[in-house]
Amino acid sequence: MAPGLVERTSADDKPVSLAALTAEYDDTLRFYLNGTKVELDSIDPEITLLEYLRGIGLTGTKLGCAEGGCGACTVVISQLNPTTGKIYHASVNACLAPLVSVDGKHVITVEGIGNSAKPHAAQQRIAVASGSQCGFCTPGIVMSLYALLRNHEAPSEVEVEEAFDGNLCRCTGYRPILDAAQSFNNKRCGKSSANGGSGCCMENGGSCGGPNGRSSAETNGVVKEPGPEKKFTPPSFIPYDKSTELIYPPALHKHDFQPLALGNKRKKWYRPVTVQQLLEIKNAWPQAKLIGGSTETQIEIKFKAMSYNASVYVGDIAELRQYKLEPEYLEIGGNVALTDLENICDEAVKHYGDAQAQPFEAVKKAISYFAGRQIRNVGTAAGNLATASPISDLNPVFVATGSVLIAKSLDKTIEIPMNTFFKSYRVTALPENATIAAIRVPVAAEQGEFIRTYKQAKRKDDDIAIVNACMSVKVDDSLVVKSANLVFGGMAPITILAKNASEFLVAKKFPDQDTLEGTMNALEKDFNLPFGVPGGMATYRKSLALGFFYKFFHEVLTNMADTEKLLDKDAAIPEIEREISRGQKDHDATLAYTQRVLGKANPHLAALKQCTGEAQYTDDIPVQKNELYGCLVLSTKAHAKLLEVDASPALDMPGVAAWVDRHDLPSPKANCWGAPMCDEVFFAEDEVFTAGQPIGMVLADTAQRASAGARAVRIKYEELPAIFTIEEAVENQSFFEHYRYIKKGNVEEAFSKCDHVFEGSARMGGQEHFYLETNAAIAIPQPEDGEMIIWSSTQNPTETQSYVGQVTGVQNNKILSKVKRLGGGFGGKETRSIQLACIVAVAAKKIKRPVRCMLNRDEDIITSGQRHPFLAVWKVGVNKDGKIQALQASVFNNGGWSQDLSAAVVDRGLSHIDGCYNIPNVSVEGRVCKTNTVSNSAFRGFGGPQGMFIAETYMSEVADRLGMPVDQFREINMYKPEEKTHFHQSLEDWHVPLMWKQVKESFNYAEKQQEIAQFNATHKWQKKGLALIPTKFGISFTALFLNQAGALIHIYHDGSVLVAHGGTEMGQGLHTKICMIVAEALNVPLCDVHISETATNTVANTSSTAASASSDLNGYAAYNACVQLNERLAPYRAKLGADATMHDLAHAAYFDRVNLSANGFYKTPEIGYVWGPNPADPSLENTGKMFFYFTQGVAASEVLVDTLTGDWTCLRTDIKMDVGRSINPAIDYGQIEGAYVQGQGLFTTEESLWQRASGQIFTRGPGAYKIPGFRDIPQEFNVSLLKDVEWKNLRTIQRSRGVGEPPLFMGAAVFFAIRDALKSARKQWGDESVLSLRSPATPERIRVMCSDPIVGRARVEPREGEKSFFIQI
Ligand SMILES: Cc1cc2nc3c(=O)[nH]c(=O)nc-3n(C[C@H](O)[C@H](O)[C@H](O)COP(=O)(O)OP(=O)(O)OC[C@H]3O[C@@H](n4cnc5c(N)ncnc54)[C@H](O)[C@@H]3O)c2cc1C
Ligand code: FES
Ligand code: FES
Repeated sequence: MAPGLVERTSADDKPVSLAALTAEYDDTLRFYLNGTKVELDSIDPEITLLEYLRGIGLTGTKLGCAEGGCGACTVVISQLNPTTGKIYHASVNACLAPLVSVDGKHVITVEGIGNSAKPHAAQQRIAVASGSQCGFCTPGIVMSLYALLRNHEAPSEVEVEEAFDGNLCRCTGYRPILDAAQSFNNKRCGKSSANGGSGCCMENGGSCGGPNGRSSAETNGVVKEPGPEKKFTPPSFIPYDKSTELIYPPALHKHDFQPLALGNKRKKWYRPVTVQQLLEIKNAWPQAKLIGGSTETQIEIKFKAMSYNASVYVGDIAELRQYKLEPEYLEIGGNVALTDLENICDEAVKHYGDAQAQPFEAVKKAISYFAGRQIRNVGTAAGNLATASPISDLNPVFVATGSVLIAKSLDKTIEIPMNTFFKSYRVTALPENATIAAIRVPVAAEQGEFIRTYKQAKRKDDDIAIVNACMSVKVDDSLVVKSANLVFGGMAPITILAKNASEFLVAKKFPDQDTLEGTMNALEKDFNLPFGVPGGMATYRKSLALGFFYKFFHEVLTNMADTEKLLDKDAAIPEIEREISRGQKDHDATLAYTQRVLGKANPHLAALKQCTGEAQYTDDIPVQKNELYGCLVLSTKAHAKLLEVDASPALDMPGVAAWVDRHDLPSPKANCWGAPMCDEVFFAEDEVFTAGQPIGMVLADTAQRASAGARAVRIKYEELPAIFTIEEAVENQSFFEHYRYIKKGNVEEAFSKCDHVFEGSARMGGQEHFYLETNAAIAIPQPEDGEMIIWSSTQNPTETQSYVGQVTGVQNNKILSKVKRLGGGFGGKETRSIQLACIVAVAAKKIKRPVRCMLNRDEDIITSGQRHPFLAVWKVGVNKDGKIQALQASVFNNGGWSQDLSAAVVDRGLSHIDGCYNIPNVSVEGRVCKTNTVSNSAFRGFGGPQGMFIAETYMSEVADRLGMPVDQFREINMYKPEEKTHFHQSLEDWHVPLMWKQVKESFNYAEKQQEIAQFNATHKWQKKGLALIPTKFGISFTALFLNQAGALIHIYHDGSVLVAHGGTEMGQGLHTKICMIVAEALNVPLCDVHISETATNTVANTSSTAASASSDLNGYAAYNACVQLNERLAPYRAKLGADATMHDLAHAAYFDRVNLSANGFYKTPEIGYVWGPNPADPSLENTGKMFFYFTQGVAASEVLVDTLTGDWTCLRTDIKMDVGRSINPAIDYGQIEGAYVQGQGLFTTEESLWQRASGQIFTRGPGAYKIPGFRDIPQEFNVSLLKDVEWKNLRTIQRSRGVGEPPLFMGAAVFFAIRDALKSARKQWGDESVLSLRSPATPERIRVMCSDPIVGRARVEPREGEKSFFIQI
């Protein structure tokens, strides 16, 4: 019992202490876990359900964010729902759920529903449909699908599509997951053989696509005749048999919900089961923290270090989960779950009829965009109200509808009108000892009342509002306003009534232009936000407030009689709604060259294990004996002197074992690291150069204690000036030494001769990797010779090994660096992972015990660096005929505080700045800015996408200035086969022009352009846009020495084959491709080939798994090993005949003492580019071959933009890629879809922001940083591989091309389609100036670029010296 809860000695002490009151409460938690009864007499009250599950070895459930934003931790909790009286299988975020909340319920985890020997149909179908790449998100996605299947006999397409709004995946691009999930939808797949039919479209080679059941044979509205049966090997789905599902344990029907009191001295949990018990607890201890769904409170505990020593779980109080439909109002129990509230609203709409039920439609709509399903399954209205967030979604509805809150304390019940409830930022009128018992929402008038609600967020699904609103007006028979409530969120520190506007409306005739104008004027007064307003986006927020009212006004007019003439017909615009997403792939693409194994669409070899939770990631490795947990202590200042670091307060805390810092290194020099410059330190010395720089690490017996210890370390700083942005760095000439240029021809002469010279700039932001698995490492010191095993989630085991050797002071031959698999890397774990691995190794060496650390999502984001933001200042010379004559550009990237790989990234930017265009004269130079931000690093594309973005920016802007359609301009300048790039490399096997033509045809590009022109002419506030974007991506590491690889193959005499190679598996299917190469080469079945892990004691001196070259490099090395083995086996093949199995061959060879192990090696031939003057002959510049080849592609996208809000959707994207002769088309399609969606995120929703006041990253988790979700992908998404061509010059393994990075830039098609739509929007308002659009095109940027009168009146300019709240670096 926490001392504070019982030792009440003050004079006003209540007669009943909490301890006495709850003395009779039960102290045993009883629940079922995967069908087995569990009774816990003592629990650690501070742990979540996720920590409990992982702690007992159920590591299938993953930790991705700890803030309810990614869904990796999804489990299902089946319970008898007190609201409905029915069993409900709730998908729940285990990372937020308190353990106490599972009493009397059935917890089902991914392990409980199947395993790879006997998978659940949901697991198996996602696996075989390639819905799992790195697999870290997969168990959570499987469990969301499982919950859907358990709750719905036959889910509809819409239900399937919406089932994943609380899950994120960073790898797959979602399409294959949706395809697999839709196979459970009887409507679409009634024919599915898995469901008892004769075969669904997916089984027959389609992709189960088409809106409203449209079959995959239908494209562009044209129904094709069914073709001959495809030879593509279909995903064979296992049948789904509901009768085999885990039953709801009969004992739980009779579970006796007793009040509980559990915990220890520091923290106690109470679980009352009646309101009376709850009120008694609150009376005895008013500060006791009520917990409903815990979706807000757990975030406060985890990220704001709030601690509550007495928490009261109210979710099992049935009385708080009831509702009543009264004649005058709907009464909703305070802790009714939001999912139930959605259904109650449906019932209310039926009950009261459309007009009177408007408030409930509004609540329902607010909930429909509220968080994800997992949050809505547990989150409550009371929790939303009590949190009093200014951007709460429900509060504006409750205020605008005149709802009344019923608050109960032991001595009284009070009614609080909602318009008096919010007092100031997060302060309410709720008395401390009271509980929110219910909320009464009045029904609307039968006529003359209009209620609507609006929300705009950065992302449509699972995102908090930037601005939301609920508006209600009552009018009399003459349409004169009797009362008005225009209530907004996101415009003030509380949910607020727009007073001036609401008052202005009263007594005005509603359908009157002056009413609209006057209200807009009044709203401007209500929301006169300053430029530097907290939260930023002053212009955007103001424009949303005005835009929402504008929408409301016109929506109401459409519902009023006789307002026809007033109605601006185009003004009442519906919100953008998505169709059911769909897509096609060309499964015939590899038929021409498919071999026994190669060229076949095999699913990822680990996919099934990933779907069942058996696949092991670093933090899933069982806890080692005597292990400690480490928590980093990070700088909170962007640039400062370290005056004092005092770890003693931490060392005094329970469970804390040690403090580790630079003094624990073998020498001061051992602190230096960083490829290639060694300009970084593992532990800060006397100065910190970025917020998030590691200073030390606290070791403790649990993760919670380590992080409490880390918070207690006292650090004194003296702040120094800091630089954040590229522009600031350029102004201050703050650069790293690196300087590179590429020159071709003579730009000056060309500029002087050409018809036009145009100048401009291109600017794009960075991108957070957001791999689902954060950085993790376990260092296990060995008893002898300083040996150490280091497991880490790294793309670079060799560099990890070498730096761990440095920091522990032993040779590399004593360090074993191992990687089983990564939950995504995308370049972010190429170098940055080494920091954590080394710190953990230093700690393990110091304390002589195993040490583990898996970074929290926020720690990962603030320590690990991102994609580089870029700025290019360009000058283009062009002739009247549209032929570009010259390009000059100065290119800068933001390297952050240390150089890391920034130099190579800017170099790749320079090499891709030509896009796909032949420019005779080029002079481009690149520099790396030194700033006080995280050290930016490799990210899929490595500067290539940035270079090509610069290219497409100058192409678009120059075309606009020439008045020429940009596609024509692109065609005029596009490279032809064998032409040379600006770095003098001939374009061999050049297929971009062919794919350009094919995509144009498949997309009906010309017709679409006409349709769009018509649409835009007739829609004032919605615009469509189109873009066709080509890509070429150079494959090879630009550092020559990295283009090598090794492999080690053992054939065991049972015929099985074990392969080790230098690459790591991070979802990209590398191990699958290499097993296929080996199986083909050794002529064995694929199932006989195995890769266990990547380790430095099997293959030494490996390059990082990066640059899209890993299959080429490691694949060839493995192949070369196979060649050796085949030579040795040849006599046995001759002797034993063609049908001899590997078992026979190996057996015979073994007894003849033949070596059945071989080491293969490969280095890429021909390449070797020399930047600048060639040392051998300085008169020659920029010589040699930079890339082994180029992977190529073309994408077309069509978007629809709501110009009043900046909301948008991608209606369709078609991609065609030339990946050579695909080793595995299923894997390649997965890479293309995943990279495209990541690219779409880069260019649209993903925006990293820094807080100006603190210099810290603000976007440090899924709550603030928005990667695309399931419903952000193109509504129609078609992908195909180039076929029917020859690759004469491609000398890679199987003549395949690397595919990991190249498709990412295809996501820019959406950006340029948005730009196209914006051009129409601006033109409509007379703005024909050239649009310079910065990436990402966030809804904010889209909206403020629209040039209409509404955004004009919302525009907020900075006052003298006023700065924005956020910084974009
Ligand atoms: C990933 C994520 C997404 C989210 N998205 C949205 C969103 O889109 N829109 C939005 O508005 N919010 C969102 N939220 C915030 C949060 O989910 C909501 O505020 C939710 O309604 C909180 O309900 P809860 O029951 O989980 O609250 P809890 O976390 O349990 O409690 C929150 C507060 O309410 C108090 N409380 C709970 N029950 C009572 C009661 N009966 N009487 C008095 N006080 C009580 C608690 O003491 C606490 O102070 C999101 C949160 C997360 C984690
Ligand atoms: S870990 Fe729980 S939602 Fe991300
Ligand atoms: S497979 Fe979804 S995050 Fe990797």
